Amino acid sequence: MRDLAHINKYLFKYKWYLVLGTVFIIIANLFGVVPAVVVRQSFDLIQGSFSIFHWFDGFELQKNGYDLFVKSILVFGVIILVSAVLRGGFMFLMRQTIIVMSRLIEFDLKNEIYAHYQTLPLSFYRKNNTGDLMNRISEDVSKVRMYIGPAIMYGINLATMFIIVIPFMFSINVKLTLYSLIPLPFLSFSIYFVNNIINKRSEEIQESQSKLSTFVQEAFSGIRVIKAFVREKDYDHKFEGTSEEYRHKSLKLAFVQSLFFPLIMGLIGLSVILTVYIGSEGVLAGELSTGNIAEFIIYVNMLTWPVTSLGWITSIIQSAAASQRRINEFLSAKNDIISDKNIKQDIVGNIRFDKVSFVYPDSGIKALEDISFSVKAGESIAIIGTTGSGKSTIANLICRLYDPTNGEVQIDDLKLTDHQISNVRQNIGYVPQDVFLFSESIRDNISFGNGKVSDERIDKAVAYSDLTENIDRFPDGLQTMLGERGITLSGGQKQRVSIARAIVREPKILILDDCLSAVDTKTENSILNSMKKIMVDRTTVIISHRVSSAQLADKIIVLDEGKIVEQGTHAELISHEGVYKTLYDKQIQKEEADPLV
Ligand SMILES: Nc1ncnc2c1ncn2[C@@H]1O[C@H](COP(=O)(O)OP(=O)(O)OP(=O)(O)O)[C@@H](O)[C@H]1O
Ligand SMILES: [Mg+2]
Repeated sequence: MRDLAHINKYLFKYKWYLVLGTVFIIIANLFGVVPAVVVRQSFDLIQGSFSIFHWFDGFELQKNGYDLFVKSILVFGVIILVSAVLRGGFMFLMRQTIIVMSRLIEFDLKNEIYAHYQTLPLSFYRKNNTGDLMNRISEDVSKVRMYIGPAIMYGINLATMFIIVIPFMFSINVKLTLYSLIPLPFLSFSIYFVNNIINKRSEEIQESQSKLSTFVQEAFSGIRVIKAFVREKDYDHKFEGTSEEYRHKSLKLAFVQSLFFPLIMGLIGLSVILTVYIGSEGVLAGELSTGNIAEFIIYVNMLTWPVTSLGWITSIIQSAAASQRRINEFLSAKNDIISDKNIKQDIVGNIRFDKVSFVYPDSGIKALEDISFSVKAGESIAIIGTTGSGKSTIANLICRLYDPTNGEVQIDDLKLTDHQISNVRQNIGYVPQDVFLFSESIRDNISFGNGKVSDERIDKAVAYSDLTENIDRFPDGLQTMLGERGITLSGGQKQRVSIARAIVREPKILILDDCLSAVDTKTENSILNSMKKIMVDRTTVIISHRVSSAQLADKIIVLDEGKIVEQGTHAELISHEGVYKTLYDKQIQKEEADPLV
């Protein structure tokens, strides 16, 4: 229950819904008791009237008595009908307040979790898989909603019903009350028991459902690979296996669910039998009227649902608490990429790495060791090196997706950790190595994160990334919708949309992480040449495998296993035999042999 305390702030926020809801429940329950009393009166009236009816055989009075009797029964009928309608009305209002409150809280909680997710650092996303993140915001929140809505509603209902009905029953007859209530605790307990089994099995089903959908999703998005490798049969087989697991679990659940109603019905039946039996003894002994038996049967029926719900509520609360615990675990995850000083200043674009080392916290891999270099605003730097040498890690550190383990990154002579993070990031145009496009139009992908960008700026960015010709060929031009993750574009086109997205922001610092790997050298050169124009007053970090991209930069760093092995200008580096020179010779030869490489 302590975990659920997190919800209290919301209950407080919507306290009027809760208060009104409680009032409606009490009123609805009062109207529930009225018919029971009226039924007793009618029974007693019928019995009383019939016993004296025959005394007046042949008298005028018999007719009068009969009329009076019919009228009274009619009045009773109307009272029962009106109370039922009023009870229904108040039950409607009760749902309209409490269930509505639960939906409002669900909405708030989802927003809270999502907003919190957005603040968390990249390392958090590496640790937790997407399925888990999604489950907490959907499954777990809906379980918590069950607590706020139905559990609280039926909980209040149960309490008020007990407070109203049970004392009333005792006031009529203690013995009959005790007997008719005997089966109810059993009912409550067995519902709790059965419901726990149902919950456990439902969870298993959910698990296998999510396994099934992950499988299907992967099979569909990887359909190219599956077809190319002729693995369809194999996948059919695997799907059948996962599907079979789902079927088996569903049938197991169906079995327990089928026990549910017979159990309730059996125990209620038992209660009714006891009421009739003990009641009849009371009638024979002259302590009770037949009306009392009818009345008690109604009470027992009225109490059945709340008592049943007691078991149900308990298990809802249990699983809500478990869900909230999981949610709290994520909500308490802190963003460790924060800035204490939070200095917001105009970014000019000087970058300095001072003895920076970096170890990836999750894998323990030392990606960078003792890296020092600096780039002045407006200059360009190329980072070149073998795969896994730490190039992308440098880009990550400049964007402050991670903080260095040792050493310091500075922007404009101020520690990156003292800058306001969003301000720095707003001034960086980052083209990540693995392109990610959203399933929106090309235009939306390019203007992404930049509100209303003028068509002029978009066209300029498109031209600089050498996309104009490609886009003109699409019938819908810039409005062409990209499939999921930009599936409708070629690899090189995707990379160039990603470049356009970075330059449309007109950033002070431009980071191009291997962003031209999927285009041929000719296109690469034409893009880089046109980009020279926009690189003029921006600091540019070009990460690449290719010497051809690196040679454009004012300064080149050669990385190997996280260390800088060479640095200098292109001319300096090829003037002596070294890693860069070797790489240059190799790549230039290859290019000469095959100009399309
Ligand atoms: N998110 C991560 N978590 C843990 N280790 C990582 C992560 N990203 C990279 N690494 C490790 O850090 C090292 C440097 O990786 P990095 O991505 O910087 O290389 P790179 O030079 O960009 O390589 P490539 O040219 O293939 O893109 C590698 O050994 C890699 O295994
Ligand atoms: Mg990389």
